[in-house]
Amino acid sequence: MPHTVTLIPGDGIGPDITEAVVRVVEATGADIQWDRRAAGVAAIEQHTTPLPQETIDAIRETRVALKGPLTTPVGVGFRSINVALRKEFDLYANVRPAKTIVPGGRYEGVDIVLVRENTEGLYSGVEHYIGISGDPRAAAESVMLVTRFGVERILRYAFEYAVKNGRKKLTLAHKANILKYTQGLFLDVGREMAKEFEGRVEFEDRIIDATAMQLVMDPTKFDMIVCENMFGDILSDQIAGLVGGLGLAPGANIGKDAAIFEAVHGSAPDIAGKGIANPAALLLAAVLMLEHLEMRDEAGRISRALESAIREKDTLTPDLGGTGTTDTFADALIRRL
Ligand code: NAI
Ligand code: MG
Repeated sequence: MPHTVTLIPGDGIGPDITEAVVRVVEATGADIQWDRRAAGVAAIEQHTTPLPQETIDAIRETRVALKGPLTTPVGVGFRSINVALRKEFDLYANVRPAKTIVPGGRYEGVDIVLVRENTEGLYSGVEHYIGISGDPRAAAESVMLVTRFGVERILRYAFEYAVKNGRKKLTLAHKANILKYTQGLFLDVGREMAKEFEGRVEFEDRIIDATAMQLVMDPTKFDMIVCENMFGDILSDQIAGLVGGLGLAPGANIGKDAAIFEAVHGSAPDIAGKGIANPAALLLAAVLMLEHLEMRDEAGRISRALESAIREKDTLTPDLGGTGTTDTFADALIRRL
């Protein structure tokens, strides 16, 4: 039985890079059937909404989606389609791996997987102003909401990911020294759960600011990091920067009933239609997807082909310093496969 995957080409450079990725994945012989669905600005004309119900239904059915970048339309009732998808499917874990591929950068040998809690913390959306003496915005409050349920499921996901993917060490980054309740709960549950995984996953905890510094001093000290929503938002971009930026940064959004894989970058309107978009970040997202589907052989072959094409500078796109196109880059990968 082939695995059916919902494919959302998306906006801007999305259709070009998704087609390139489909070609590369198919070249591995992976038994996947693509179910193409619309979302983003591309969906508005036919469906009058950037997030059609039939796209949501399709993901509910296949449980796995590979998504191109979506342009957030201005003036439509959506703050962000990506946030709407995350809410719809309760995608509580955001997984952002970062690995050195381009040689000669600032750091060598970086290989870090960050797991970010994606549904609560300071980004719960519980905010308000407090009016004082005629000033309606004299003060403002944002609530950092942390639940045992939310903490347990993200930590369990991180530990189990470590076991499944042969990761050695999990660092829990926190601010429990100041935020004794919210971050204290996160840390306490983490320490407790670490006992369950003793002998399988090494565990340590670090204060978030010290973690940020250590990441810059020596990122090779880290293997996996788990943290709450906002800390993860900040650290994941920092970690992408350690390995050369967004061009090679994939992300996975994982829930109990669905998983959506995407590149971290957006729809790049400035280069859309020029045929020069780099498909590598979305391809790395496809690698995460293949691992999720237990197609580890195919995933490994694509990773190795990508690493070798980048090292040998084989028809790379301009953002990676080459003169190739989306298609010639994909062709170079397919030759290696
Ligand atoms: P962006 O990531 O689209 O572009 C930033 C810069 O990086 C641009 O110069 C672009 O040309 C370059 N770039 C991005 N991806 C590239 C690739 N694959 N190959 C070569 N160059 C690449 O960010 P921007 O301009 O802030 O956002 C554009 C649109 O994308 C907005 O509507 C935004 O809302 C949306 N967006 C969607 C995301 C998603 O669907 N996950 C994530 C981020 C932004
Ligand atoms: Mg962010």
